[in-house]
Amino acid sequence: MAQLPFDQREGHIWYDGVFVPWAEAKLHVLSHGLHYASSVFEGERAYGGEVFKLEEHTERLHESARILGFEIPYSAETINQATRELLAKGNLVDAYVRPVAWRGSEMMGVSAQSNTIHLAIAAWEWPSYFKPEERLKGIRLDMAAYRRPDPMTAPSRSKAAGLYMICTISKHDAERKGYADALMLDWRGQIAEATGANVFFVKDGKIHTPKPDCFLDGITRRTVIDLAKRRGFEVIERAILPDEMEGFEACFLTGTAAEVTPVSEVGPYTFTVDAITKTLMEDYHVEVQPKAAAKVAAAG
Ligand SMILES: Cc1ncc(COP(=O)(O)O)c(C=O)c1O
Repeated sequence: MAQLPFDQREGHIWYDGVFVPWAEAKLHVLSHGLHYASSVFEGERAYGGEVFKLEEHTERLHESARILGFEIPYSAETINQATRELLAKGNLVDAYVRPVAWRGSEMMGVSAQSNTIHLAIAAWEWPSYFKPEERLKGIRLDMAAYRRPDPMTAPSRSKAAGLYMICTISKHDAERKGYADALMLDWRGQIAEATGANVFFVKDGKIHTPKPDCFLDGITRRTVIDLAKRRGFEVIERAILPDEMEGFEACFLTGTAAEVTPVSEVGPYTFTVDAITKTLMEDYHVEVQPKAAAKVAAAG
């Protein structure tokens, strides 16, 4: 059966400061955010009723908006509290959380100096499927035709809706060819990231990942780098060229949605799922669990 469309679900959405019934959380077609992509968002995940790194996500949301030249008219505290209330109201335990901020309708041109800024937060159930046996097969990636733009060309540190246009095109192209996702190069021809996740490689017991100088420095990416260092693995952040993939033994993606996902193929290159990838998958799984519950489990 087809999934119920996202505008027809039940529950509530926090919209400009109040909880509104899900179906009533609408915006006008003449919204600047829709026409000119003056919109920023976050992708967050709740485990055991708590959003993992909520404060960092909210901070990034504010910063993404500032980079696009607007200020979200709600403090981080208000947003965090609204998120917690939203989860409680919907009895959501393992869930995806999507805050989105956009410029409204007062002006309808490139200039939108006096447009009001809106913020909505939606959350829906998203179980934490940690089925190592399935994930350990690894996913297959195509090479994307589009490249991540030069930071002099686009505001690449912002999680801005407009930057996802080439991600959707690339992901669709990959899916049409039977791949799960696509690996994107940057404007210099260096490896950048997948369409919604960061990328890592393993060679000779060391972890290599591109420097996030023109794409999102993922919260999961930073978490996994910390976890790897805690294990004593060396992590090298550097420029990586595509033909280096020939010599890499393993590859994995990181992201709020992807968590740590092994990759078995990128275009013509193949990888195994090695012990380092498996360790980091498991360490990440433990890391995202609410700390209070983890302590109770450890004590009991
Ligand atoms: C393009 C892109 N890169 C990387 C990431 C990973 O970021 P995070 O780990 O903060 O979810 C995401 C997901 O938000 C993304 O959309």
